[in-house]
Amino acid sequence: PSVSEGAPPVIHQKDGLRLLRRVGVVDPSSLDDYRAAGGYAALRNALRMGKAAVIREVTDSGLLGRGGAAFPTGRKWAATAAQPAGPHYLVCNADESEPGTFKDRVLLEGDPFALVESMTIAAYAIGATRGFVYLRGEYPRALRLLRNALDVCRERGFLGADIMGHQGFSFDIEIRRGAGAYICGEETAIFNSIEGFRGEPRTKPPFPVEQGLFSKPTVVNNVETLVNVPLILTEGAVAYRSLSTEASAGPKLFCLSGNVERPGVYEVPFGTSLRELLAMAGGVAEGRTLRAILLGGAAGGFVRPDELDLPLTFEDARAAKTTLGSGVVLVLDDLADLGGFLLRIAEFFRDESCGQCVPCRIGTVRQEEAIRRVLAAKSDERPLLREVGGVMRDSSICGLGQTAWNAIESAIDRLGALQ
Ligand code: NAI
Ligand code: SF4
Repeated sequence: PSVSEGAPPVIHQKDGLRLLRRVGVVDPSSLDDYRAAGGYAALRNALRMGKAAVIREVTDSGLLGRGGAAFPTGRKWAATAAQPAGPHYLVCNADESEPGTFKDRVLLEGDPFALVESMTIAAYAIGATRGFVYLRGEYPRALRLLRNALDVCRERGFLGADIMGHQGFSFDIEIRRGAGAYICGEETAIFNSIEGFRGEPRTKPPFPVEQGLFSKPTVVNNVETLVNVPLILTEGAVAYRSLSTEASAGPKLFCLSGNVERPGVYEVPFGTSLRELLAMAGGVAEGRTLRAILLGGAAGGFVRPDELDLPLTFEDARAAKTTLGSGVVLVLDDLADLGGFLLRIAEFFRDESCGQCVPCRIGTVRQEEAIRRVLAAKSDERPLLREVGGVMRDSSICGLGQTAWNAIESAIDRLGALQ
């Protein structure tokens, strides 16, 4: 896609930065800057520890996937490493496309060597010699910086054969660009896209840890997930967990957008309350009141103003009938057009459905039509929306169709929308 680079998102912090500590501080095109700021200490530790110990440390850290689904990273790595028949592959999902999500962009543009080092550690642990970064097509600055990082790492012995002098450990990374389709961020659609097929999801199981890219055992990790790994291997799993909660470990990036005074990417420990995060972002504009917050993106759910004490953890979000998803915190004030916003979500899913399966291909169209009717004629379409939404959730092939009704259902049930 032809797109301009645009201004990078602004970053904010609480209690010191860990994930974002080099962003805006080091030159993202300089390996020497990266190393002077602690870069490649983690890979050195990993190579000393050995593969099994690295997987154990990542498992003990409690790291959960940051792409949205919060699956245990150590479990994925262990399951892939245990597959006897290779080659094993590593794929970094950098096709960040969830509306309101721009945290991976900050990492890719501000600290690209960290992703290369993190992927090299993951490859070492699972026994992969080839890795792919599937990069969102609309991130030209990230592409430029990542290409440079890969070239420099190859020249300096941090990619290729015998990495960092470790005999027999070879690994290299290729970049594949998305072309604007949201569905190509779904992990099995990424496989199809890399293999040269149409970017359509495959049915799961089999999970990628058994049959992924080219039908071989594959780990797919999100950018933010991977960038946690060097922290774990330098701080140690115990220290890594110490600032957060038992079930949601480590630091987390949140993307604040919408009717908020200081939008941007915020790094906070899990367990920080939504109220505190909103206050860090300056709250809504003076004279306005908060209407609701969409947490977790289009597949997430709404939080009301009386629920702002919600601790931002995977477990608390689940209990509050939403999700942290990919870290979306989209703020709506009292002037926001909630009906128009829901229609926009419905249009988005109708547009982005790949059309492969009937419940999603037809359901997303019916959902949008029903919302249009409510907004035009004030008819009550809630029973139909529930029926269509339920069918999409129960019988769609992939997460897009299964979650296309989440935010709309949440707005009906929790905010009294579309009456
Ligand atoms: P999922 O729950 O199907 O899988 C999550 C991960 O765990 C996958 O890598 C899957 O292969 C693995 N997994 C699950 N069960 C497994 C098992 N038994 N054995 C081995 N591996 C297993 O979720 P999915 O569809 O991958 O992701 C959905 C999430 O993605 C949503 O929560 C949504 O918030 C998020 N999302 C994020 C976007 C972004 O731009 N960051 C865009 C769209 C959605
Ligand atoms: Fe395609 Fe939607 Fe089916 Fe997913 S649920 S495979 S996006 S039609």
